[in-house]
Amino acid sequence: MNIKSFVAIPIVSVLCLGLWAGCSSPKPKSPVAQAQSPVPLQAQPQPPPSPLVKTNRLVIHADQPGAEISRNIYGQFSEHLGHCIYGGIWVGEDSPIPNTRGIRNDVVAALKKIQVPVLRWPGGCFADEYHWMDGIGTPTNRPSMINTHWGGVTENNAFGTHEFMDFCGQIGAAPYICGNVGSGTVQEMMEWVEYMTSDADSPMANLRRQNGREQPWKVPYFAVGNESWGCGGNMTAEFYADNFSRYNTFVKNYPGNNIYRVASGGLESDYHWTEVLMKQNVDRLKHGGQAMNGFSLHYYTLPTGNWSHKGSATDFDEAEWFNTFQHALVMDGLVTKHSAIMDKYDPQKKIGLIVDEWGAWYDVEPGTNPGFLYQQNTLRDALVAGVTLNIFNNHADRVKMANIAQMINVLQAMILTDNEKMTVTPSYWVFEMDTVHHDATLLPMDLQSVDYAFGDKTIPAVSASASRDQAGKIHVTLCNLNPNQSIEVPCELQGAKAGKISGRVLTAPEMNAHNTFDRPDHVKPAEFNTFKVTDDGFITTLPAKSVVVLEVE
Ligand code: AHR
Repeated sequence: MNIKSFVAIPIVSVLCLGLWAGCSSPKPKSPVAQAQSPVPLQAQPQPPPSPLVKTNRLVIHADQPGAEISRNIYGQFSEHLGHCIYGGIWVGEDSPIPNTRGIRNDVVAALKKIQVPVLRWPGGCFADEYHWMDGIGTPTNRPSMINTHWGGVTENNAFGTHEFMDFCGQIGAAPYICGNVGSGTVQEMMEWVEYMTSDADSPMANLRRQNGREQPWKVPYFAVGNESWGCGGNMTAEFYADNFSRYNTFVKNYPGNNIYRVASGGLESDYHWTEVLMKQNVDRLKHGGQAMNGFSLHYYTLPTGNWSHKGSATDFDEAEWFNTFQHALVMDGLVTKHSAIMDKYDPQKKIGLIVDEWGAWYDVEPGTNPGFLYQQNTLRDALVAGVTLNIFNNHADRVKMANIAQMINVLQAMILTDNEKMTVTPSYWVFEMDTVHHDATLLPMDLQSVDYAFGDKTIPAVSASASRDQAGKIHVTLCNLNPNQSIEVPCELQGAKAGKISGRVLTAPEMNAHNTFDRPDHVKPAEFNTFKVTDDGFITTLPAKSVVVLEVE
């Protein structure tokens, strides 16, 4: 039997997202998701247009500070998929590309500037077929495997636990490991945690020492499986809830390392899954079991809402621009509804909603491997990042981590590489501009936005979030989704006085403006000064299709 026929049958039969022969199969939608998805997948009769909102009004309640915006909302995701790891992060010590212990220096330098707080690895769907012991020890002795989800390529395990931890250290990110529930054993998961975090004279800790690492690493975040409703095992909520309990029991806290345990969420708007997991957590706590600390949500933005024809990353018209944001804004409803269920079982909000995969997902670039999910990244993606991060900031009481998919060369990437060439993307710049919100205090706001209308459909044109940092400075991120019109936003600051204001803007003349290896600086932030201090705050004019970050002192 050749390898292709060996893997093709299970992939099709389980309808998993990973694609052997290309990205033509749709990501499955559960009946629940189809019934409850806030944006219909197929065209549906539209309600009559509501009257256009004609004026903006932003009130920032600086006198009513909210939750801390966890820096982890600005987290990233790196999977063994396409050229995220191999070529993007890892080139090997013998590469002519400048590297430190095999890890690209240019990529590390760029990532340090956006202060990546936390990095999820090794997947994704890949995590539930990854066997960590294959990725330790002398590289030439490491067994290979087939990456059945992503292009069917041979994975030689050159990048394993030690290399990932080294990368996290080089960029200053906390590791967030995703464990294998789907095809791995409880013992395997237990031993991985011992290998990474135990300082005892024990078999796994000694194996780590033999492999050159004396001290245990800190592993603050650990996920028990990924998308267990789909590529992670096609489980029901009830079956997964029991499996979570069982695996999680053996994820041990060795002295000096306290693990934040994340349970897999259901598919997008599968609220039943959330109910089951949250309820079982309450029951588990009553019996003294090991609880979960976080609960994950994945949601991707497709311009068309159709997994078979997602749309091009660069070649799109205003209709697709509009639809992209209509889909991106669905995130707010998903977070709100999952949070409401979590509130029922966890009113003190001890459990975090962990949006550990999100971003824009397009058709792959023509001529690239369909299983590698390589896509360009334009100003549109910057706006997707801007509005989504605003949503997370505004839900900082519940959203404790988010991980954009993915860091390099895959989906909505921060960085694109081609051998020795590298460029950062417009999305990268939004993460860079938004570093001001890391661990700052959310300032709640009331925002009334004018509509951005296209055809007979409307969405709010403006999105915003605000925070106060430890030095007392207020930062406001504002996005204007309208690609044709600048928008004036008067802002009332309650409980604070605007003195000095400065700003930065990310915009470009074209909706699909992007950076290339030959023109890496085409889209990048510029100084912004279209604002004026007023008696009760300030007034600013946002350019069409822009992300603006203001600093108010
Ligand atoms: O990010 C790509 C894939 O999307 C991940 O592997 C999977 O978890 C998700 O469905």
